[in-house]
Amino acid sequence: MRILVTGGAGYIGSHTVVELQNAGHEPIVLDNLYNASEKVIGRIEAITGRKVPFYKADIRDEEALNQIFDKEKPEAVIHFAGLKAVGESVQKPWEYYENNIGGTLHLLKVMKEHGCKNIIFSSSATVYGDPAFVPITEECPKGTCTNPYGWTKWMQEQILTDLHTADPEWNVILLRYFNPIGAHKSGTMGENPNGIPNNLMPYITQVAVGKLAKLHVFGNDYDTPDGTGVRDYIHVVDLARGHVCAMQKLAPGSGVNIYNLGTGHGYSVLDIVKNFEAATGKTIPYVIDKRRAGDIATCYCDASKAERELGWKAENGIREMCEDSWRWQSQNPNGYDD
Ligand code: NAD
Ligand code: UD1
Repeated sequence: MRILVTGGAGYIGSHTVVELQNAGHEPIVLDNLYNASEKVIGRIEAITGRKVPFYKADIRDEEALNQIFDKEKPEAVIHFAGLKAVGESVQKPWEYYENNIGGTLHLLKVMKEHGCKNIIFSSSATVYGDPAFVPITEECPKGTCTNPYGWTKWMQEQILTDLHTADPEWNVILLRYFNPIGAHKSGTMGENPNGIPNNLMPYITQVAVGKLAKLHVFGNDYDTPDGTGVRDYIHVVDLARGHVCAMQKLAPGSGVNIYNLGTGHGYSVLDIVKNFEAATGKTIPYVIDKRRAGDIATCYCDASKAERELGWKAENGIREMCEDSWRWQSQNPNGYDD
C-alpha cells in the first residue's frame, strides 16, 4: 500500500519506514526536519536497499500537502509528525497546540479532499493520566493530563473519533505507545535528542558514552518495589512492526480502533540501570534526586488486545533494548551529526 508517513524522518517514524518497506509497502516520507536529520533517509535506504520518496514539508502547509497528495496518491497516512517534549510544552503551550492540533487539522482536511480516509495515529500512554488501574487495558478511562503535550494527544484522539462519527468512511487506529527505547540492530538509526535528554534511556546512554557525568534518578519514594518509577519499555523496532500489523486492520468499515503497544512488563529506573550495565559492561553512576513534577509511580499495559486482534506481540526483551540503544549511541556519539 502507498502510505504517507508524516514525521517519517523522526525516531519512531524512521524505524517504521524500514519495517513498512520490508513488508512490501510503499512509504512516502514527509517531515519538516524540525527534530530530525535528512541523513536518516540514506540510512533507511542502506538498510532496505530501496528508495524512499522524501518531502521536506510541514503538515501546516496545505499547499505543500495538496501537491504531495496529488503526486503520490497515498491510500493511508501514518501520522507521527508533532512536537513531543513534555517540559517544553509547559513553557510553550501555544506552539504545541498550534503544531500538533493545528497541523493535524490541516492534514485531515487535505486527506478528506483527496478521498484518503485511512489513518494510524501516534498516541501515547500519557492519555491515561495517572491510570485508574494497572496493567492498563484500552478500557481504562482517559485521565487528566499533566501538561499541554499530553492534552494534544488526548484531543487529537477525540478529533479523529468525532470525524469517524460524522463520516463512517474514516478508518482510524489510535496506537497508544508506552516507552519506546532501543534502536535498529544495524546501529545506524536511533534516537537523536537535541540537547540534554529528558527521557531515561538516552540520558543513560549519554552517561555511558561520557557526555554526561551521572544519572539523576527522579525519586526513590514511590510505592513501587524499589521506590523508583516503573514503566513499560518497548523496543522501537517492535513498535514499528506494530504499525505494519495495524495496517491490515485499516479496512473499509473498521471504524475507530485503539491499541496499547507495550510489552506488558514494568521495569523500575534502577532495573533499567542494572540491565543496561549487564548488557553493555558499562557502569552508570547515579544519584537519587527529588521527584520530577508530573511523574507517576507506575505505568505498564495489558497488550493482549493487540495480540488478539492484530497478531502483534513485542519480541525483544530488556537486554536487546539496552544492547541496541548502546550500539547506536556508541557508534554515533553525536547522533546524525558528523
Ligand atoms: P520525533 O521528534 O523523533 O519525530 C517527530 C517528527 O515529526 C520529527 O522528525 C519532526 O521533525 C517532525 N515534525 C514535527 N512537527 C512537524 C510538522 N509540523 N510538519 C512536519 N513534520 C513535523 O519523535 P518520535 O519519538 O519519533 O515520536 C513520533 C510520534 O510518536 C510523535 O507524535 C510523538 O508524540 C509520539 N509518541 C512518542 C513517544 C516517545 O516516547 N518517543 C511516546 C508516545 C508517543
Ligand atoms: C515521558 C513523558 C510522557 C511521554 C513519554 C514518552 C513526562 C512527565 N512524561 O514519560 O508524557 O509520553 O515520556 O516519551 O515527561 N527518569 C529518571 N531520570 C531521568 C529521566 C527519567 O529517573 O533523567 C525516570 C522518570 O522519573 C520515570 C522513568 O525514568 O520514572 C521514565 O522516564 P521518561 O523516559 O522520561 O518517560 P516517562 O516519564 O514515562
